[in-house]
Amino acid sequence: MTDSTGSVQLEHRAIDRWRAIDWWFNQRFGRLYDLLLTHSWGKRLRRTLPHIQGPRVLEVSFGVGFLMSQYAHAYEVTGLEYNPRCIEATRRRLERLDLGAKLVEGDAQALPFPDASFDTVINTDAFTLYHDPHRVLSELLRVLAPGGRLVVMEYDYPRNGNLLGRLWVLVARRIMMMPRLDLEALHRSSGSPYQDYDVGGFGAFHMYVSQKPLLAKVDRSTHAYDPTQSS
Ligand SMILES: C[S@@+](CC[C@H](N)C(=O)[O-])C[C@H]1O[C@@H](n2cnc3c(N)ncnc32)[C@H](O)[C@@H]1O
Repeated sequence: MTDSTGSVQLEHRAIDRWRAIDWWFNQRFGRLYDLLLTHSWGKRLRRTLPHIQGPRVLEVSFGVGFLMSQYAHAYEVTGLEYNPRCIEATRRRLERLDLGAKLVEGDAQALPFPDASFDTVINTDAFTLYHDPHRVLSELLRVLAPGGRLVVMEYDYPRNGNLLGRLWVLVARRIMMMPRLDLEALHRSSGSPYQDYDVGGFGAFHMYVSQKPLLAKVDRSTHAYDPTQSS
């Protein structure tokens, strides 16, 4: 995102438009979303599974709960979502599969959980929809226990700059007018060591896996993250 006020406003408008599309799509076509997830996007989402470390797992912005249904049998799972329709769809899905999880309605920008309460935090295909991504990242790190894992999946320009991956992002940005976020820079600014995995779309889908340093502190009021201070 850029510093100029005009561009920030434009970016916020793109975020609002996509939040509205996502909300509407989930309300009207939850089942279709489900089919797409199960048969296509689901394969990519499942790439997060080997990176989960338990026992306490939080998934933020879980949508219709496809990914959660793939690991809920193995961990103590909590999920946070702001769309009540998604929460209901996920509840039904988990019930059907005889799985349990604590599902909470809330905003990723102000997580209602104490510091250091999870061993893994997962977030997929949602970061570009947040107005204040810095704040969300600091919230995800705050609730993560020292040594815990943060797994974030999102689209962006491919690391190796290949033409097809760049084209994918350009179409998303310019034609579909999807918001874009430099998640690499965001992760770098957090100070936590991370790895960027290519998970498809000619390198345009990234999975960032980071480890919260053992000595790390997030100031809850300012959202400043200090990777060197003990909490
Ligand atoms: C594109 S969907 C992705 C859902 C799921 N993670 C997946 O990969 O299929 C984005 C999700 O982010 C949720 N979301 C957007 N803004 C949010 C916020 N501020 N707090 C919590 N959830 C939010 C939406 O309700 C939606 O379910």
